[in-house]
Amino acid sequence: MNDMTTTTQNTKTSTVLDASGVTMRFGGLTAVRSVDLTVSAGEIVGLIGPNGAGKTTFFNCLTGLYIPTEGKVTYKGTVLPPKPHLVTQAGIARTFQNIRLFSNMTVLENVLVGRHTRTKEGLWSALLRGPGFKKAEAASHQRAMELLEFIGLQHKADHLARNLPYGEQRKLEIARALASEPGLLLLDEPTAGMNPQETRVTEELIFAIRDQGIAVLVIEHDMRFIFNLCDRVACLVQGEKLVEGTPETVQGDERVVAAYLGTPFEGAPGGEEVAEVEAAEAQSTTSTTSTEGETQ
Ligand SMILES: Nc1ncnc2c1ncn2[C@@H]1O[C@H](COP(=O)(O)OP(=O)(O)O)[C@@H](O)[C@H]1O
Ligand SMILES: [Mg+2]
Repeated sequence: MNDMTTTTQNTKTSTVLDASGVTMRFGGLTAVRSVDLTVSAGEIVGLIGPNGAGKTTFFNCLTGLYIPTEGKVTYKGTVLPPKPHLVTQAGIARTFQNIRLFSNMTVLENVLVGRHTRTKEGLWSALLRGPGFKKAEAASHQRAMELLEFIGLQHKADHLARNLPYGEQRKLEIARALASEPGLLLLDEPTAGMNPQETRVTEELIFAIRDQGIAVLVIEHDMRFIFNLCDRVACLVQGEKLVEGTPETVQGDERVVAAYLGTPFEGAPGGEEVAEVEAAEAQSTTSTTSTEGETQ
């Protein structure tokens, strides 16, 4: 499988996503600092890093949810518009770290919602059931059922989303994202809360999505999952890209290991600041203790 990917890339290296120098600041906090990342056609790229490293914030910068403080993001050579629905329309779809489904709508309806950026009939036409709506509706329905079959939930089309077990809700989110017919799919912790069996199924599903010509960028904590799945992996630590390379390279990098184990290493981004904050905290604890006796 990897050989095939390499061949495809060598003959046709088309960049789907190109993020360069992306920085996102919230007041005094720099959540993402000058991150460069590309995703090519046919690729599955992984984004790892400890909690709070800036992974979700980076996704938000790619999808128009946040406008990066600095930097540029292009999709297939075009700068992305800074609005989530326009980004979806351009061809990037995503799932969320915290599942966002319409819990009181059926499984099928949730997928249909994902289609509305792709149907020519606007929302008004859909609501007013104007001419042309019926035909579009039938096509949308058919495509939504195909997608449910693809993720293995066709038998639950009429169930309310909230009645699905957690793992199936995650899959339904993927189906809804696919309904916008994306060229790039961003997955934020797709296997969070899944058992090993469900994780395996998700892995196969992502390979199948890639095989349909959709590039994938995936955030995940499960290292076995990431290293097995991805052609390339980037590791963010404290908002900066620390390492990027093949799973083998990243897996063996002592800085990545240290970042996960919390051991400081030479040249760690923000290491000095962390030390400063820790020193200041230690100082304030000491002074509190000395002035207020036994408070902690
Ligand atoms: N909207 C926001 N306003 C202020 N701070 C934020 C916001 N979103 C994220 N952050 C901060 O940015 C940092 C990175 O968060 P996040 O991107 O969620 O990390 P990750 O997904 O890698 O766990 C954290 O310190 C978080 O508290
Ligand atoms: Mg996150």
